[in-house]
Amino acid sequence: MQSTCAEIQVSQYERILEISIHRPERKNALTMDMYSAMAELLREASENPEVRVVIVTGTKGVFTSGNDLADFLGGSASGEESPVFQFMRALYDFPKPVIAAVSGYAVGIGTTMLLHCDLSIADDDAVFQMPFVNLGLCPEYASSYLLPRIMGHAKASELLLLGKKFDAQTAANVNICNEVVYAGEALERAREYAREVATKAPEAVRLTKKLLRQGTYASGLEFISEEAGHFQNRLQSGEFREAATAFMEKRPADFSKFS
Ligand code: COA
Repeated sequence: MQSTCAEIQVSQYERILEISIHRPERKNALTMDMYSAMAELLREASENPEVRVVIVTGTKGVFTSGNDLADFLGGSASGEESPVFQFMRALYDFPKPVIAAVSGYAVGIGTTMLLHCDLSIADDDAVFQMPFVNLGLCPEYASSYLLPRIMGHAKASELLLLGKKFDAQTAANVNICNEVVYAGEALERAREYAREVATKAPEAVRLTKKLLRQGTYASGLEFISEEAGHFQNRLQSGEFREAATAFMEKRPADFSKFS
């Protein structure tokens, strides 16, 4: 299988498809082309009998810093027709196990996509953050629905309202990731698990994934859509413009004039 975008790299071995986000000079920030390429790979992999498991990873020291903020400022759509939504939908619908290997920063969708993976392994120096409120935005990818269910309301409120960075051990404690390994070992551990899953009975694996998701994820799609509508409106807001401009100008955002 081949990627349509140089910044999304793929390798295929032992019935495993490994998708690597590769834009290190921008901390692997995701552009529309990158989302499209990942969505296409997932759609193709779902039909391809030579793929039984997918690994999603980044580069050494960074998983992804989330959506490219310049893209958002430039008015790239995040509605249901957009590549972002296409990617979210492709991962949400993906019928085979997806294993994430997180090294370094996993910000925004870098954290929320883990909620839609089946196993997530993190290097012990990985750093997670869902800074939506800090950016004048709102939660996405059904995170406002899934987080309270997997970690309880109090912890979900803390992570979403304060938007602070948190470490790998915290991510494991609140069930965002399965396992924390020494720095630099997450990808190798993910490959070990992928090899193990790839040798199991494929139909039994797919059915188990489907059954596991049936309860918690049943309403997920409605939430993804509802959040996407709000998110799209927030991107047009003065609050977001101030936050994203402040990031580009390397200064703190000033929300004092907003009511
Ligand atoms: N969108 C666009 N550019 C980004 C980016 C993003 N999401 N994340 C990083 N970059 C750019 C930086 O602007 C910087 O560009 P420059 O070299 O022209 O100054 C470059 O990538 C390196 O990033 P930098 O911030 O210097 O790295 P760092 O190691 O100090 O911090 C992060 C890493 C991930 C903590 C920080 O870059 C960050 O907070 N990024 C924004 C995350 C975000 O808000 N994502 C959107 C969520 S919806």
